[in-house]
Amino acid sequence: MAEMSDRSNLLLHFTANGAYGPGGSELLVLERGEGPYVFDTDGRRYVDGLSSLFCSQIGYSYGEEMAAAAAAQLGRLSFNTNWATAHPPAIELASALVERAPAGMAAAFFTSGGSESVEAAWKMARQYHLANGEPQRTKAIARDIAYHGVTLGALSFTGVPRFKEPFGRPAIDTRHVSNTNSFRSPLGGEELTTALLEELDRAIEEEGPDQVAIVIAEPIQNAGGCLVAPPGYWQGVRQICDRYGILLIADEVIAGCGRLGRWFASDHYGIRPDLITIAKGLTSAYAPMGAVIAGDRVAEALRRPGVSLLHGITFGGHPLCAAIALQNVEIFERDGVLENVRRRGSYLRDRLEQKLRPLPIVGDLRGDGFFFAAEMTPDGGEGRFESDQVARLVREIVPRLLLERGLIARADDRGDPVLQIAPPLISDDAVLDEVVDAMRDVLAAAGDEIGLTA
Ligand SMILES: Cc1ncc(COP(=O)(O)O)c(C=O)c1O
Repeated sequence: MAEMSDRSNLLLHFTANGAYGPGGSELLVLERGEGPYVFDTDGRRYVDGLSSLFCSQIGYSYGEEMAAAAAAQLGRLSFNTNWATAHPPAIELASALVERAPAGMAAAFFTSGGSESVEAAWKMARQYHLANGEPQRTKAIARDIAYHGVTLGALSFTGVPRFKEPFGRPAIDTRHVSNTNSFRSPLGGEELTTALLEELDRAIEEEGPDQVAIVIAEPIQNAGGCLVAPPGYWQGVRQICDRYGILLIADEVIAGCGRLGRWFASDHYGIRPDLITIAKGLTSAYAPMGAVIAGDRVAEALRRPGVSLLHGITFGGHPLCAAIALQNVEIFERDGVLENVRRRGSYLRDRLEQKLRPLPIVGDLRGDGFFFAAEMTPDGGEGRFESDQVARLVREIVPRLLLERGLIARADDRGDPVLQIAPPLISDDAVLDEVVDAMRDVLAAAGDEIGLTA
């Protein structure tokens, strides 16, 4: 057996793997969690201000309860598929999700993660159009910089060119339109809404309204830094989709499962999607699982005589994962997880405003629920760092300072450079303070290192 210190056999995701070779950067290896904290192999504690990449909604102290739910299920039935047969946990979980979903949602299809959910939603949308005699609807509309996953179908919707270019022509013909970045737009409020909706309408007209199958968008866009839509945007998107017979997919892989204080982010913003994709927080990451929730119209089309859903994933809806997801639902409701986010979301926002806004490196603060981003700028306003400064900040300075300060958060430059947090949804005020204080220290020190003066 290789020593734990020998990491040469493990390839890391979205990582410059060569950077961690001999003589390279130290790799953070986390081996234990407790509440909102994680501990590395030297016993050092970090506050997990990112919920392990937006997944660990209930933190790390429910292992025994989850293990009991898993053991009970494994003792009864270790596995069966959702391919023309079913099992009780999948049936119960589908009902639990539909009950908690926005009005008009009717059925759940299970997957193993977010990219799979996005692709499954696309195929369900295609089959909806096929069932309605519109096979020509083969195009998609997505938004700039948005991340919808990396499997080749989902990658088509992802709006980050550098993630796509190495892999050739996208599998799905996708047109990208502007996202809802109001900080970087010269327009604000309803003027921005009007401009964005006009652009969407124009894009659809240019693509051919009867060619477009879906519009896919996150209720609050993660990549680019917690981009909230301006007033009236979602109502307008719904109207445009209805006008042209296009299905609206709300990608809630990050925004759903309580991140904004409701099971579904669409409910939080009054969005009326036809399909919703979730993953990550569905089990609070105690097991890998995703789902697509289909609205009445789509479910009805898929249930028509003669229609067969031409999509399946062996482990989608695995009974172990479904049992854990059901336990997660029970924990959310028993322990008031959604209420916690609703009660403390404004506290988190106020603290961030008080402590971060005055820093010379903070140009904007935005977000919702337990999900916020600080955009880093050279002048505390709308200026922009040079690209080499962005690279230093995002890949070198901020990651090092985060580790030193014991905070897990995300420095990201898919759009303008941001530092993002998404604390576990069980965090109390003291934990939120810890996250905000550490974030302030990191950003203040990053500003000093990059040469900004207060
Ligand atoms: C909005 C969104 N959709 C889809 C995905 C893909 O999920 P996964 O990494 O589980 O495949 C992600 C991942 O972060 C995401 O943020």
